[in-house]
Amino acid sequence: MSENRRQIIAANWKMNLTVGQGKKLVNHILEEKDLPCDLVFAPPFTHLSEIKKSITDRDKVFLAAQNCHHESNGAYTGEISTVMLEDMGVQMVIVGHSERRQLFGDTGKWINQKIKACLSRNLQPIFCFGEKLDQREQNQHFETVRKQLNEGLSNLSEAQIQDVIFAYEPVWAIGTGHTATPGQAEEMHQFVRKEISSTSTDQVARSVPILYGGSVKPANASELLHCPNIDGALVGGASLKAKDFLAIVEAVV
Ligand code: 13P
Repeated sequence: MSENRRQIIAANWKMNLTVGQGKKLVNHILEEKDLPCDLVFAPPFTHLSEIKKSITDRDKVFLAAQNCHHESNGAYTGEISTVMLEDMGVQMVIVGHSERRQLFGDTGKWINQKIKACLSRNLQPIFCFGEKLDQREQNQHFETVRKQLNEGLSNLSEAQIQDVIFAYEPVWAIGTGHTATPGQAEEMHQFVRKEISSTSTDQVARSVPILYGGSVKPANASELLHCPNIDGALVGGASLKAKDFLAIVEAVV
């Protein structure tokens, strides 16, 4: 991790835990008084207000939603808008997760609209992208990520891009136990920074955090987090156990 960029360890609980279990988990994690970096908790929508109570008044701890709709309100049964999320005290939103792209049909255009909706409120998007296994095997990973970045960042101003948190999540590494090697991850993060610089400026590209996600666990966290262009982790499975999550947080130092 570079010393002058924001460092973030984010917990994406996906569709796991009850409210009670989630509160217990957060309270346990926050017994740690000296946090070495920013922490983000992204529980299911139904848990947000209760988890908010557990993290209130803690410096460096943020609440995220796992998705949003791009319209502020309207006839969109089952959807949640950025206006509603902001109203609840949510500070960030995961956008473009591969599970949303693959299982729920989120397109590049929608992802761009969701990012814009977040930025038009006071919400930082955590913009996820990453290639599938066959795309890496066919050496198309850079092209794939370039396309996803171009779609997601389409028509954003420099100032808006500056507010985006990026997350490289190779699909073949998510929930599979197959982590990208530090070399593979660092190479892609460097590429992403270069792409961001060509879409905005060098200064913006150097300052935005780029997280890595995909089977991050205590055993591999330190090596990944010490790569110069990796500024943190977006953690799925290992974020559901306080001991594992804290071990990843401690690997930042
Ligand atoms: P795992 O850590 O379970 O591989 O999930 C990663 C992820 O999808 C975080 O958004």
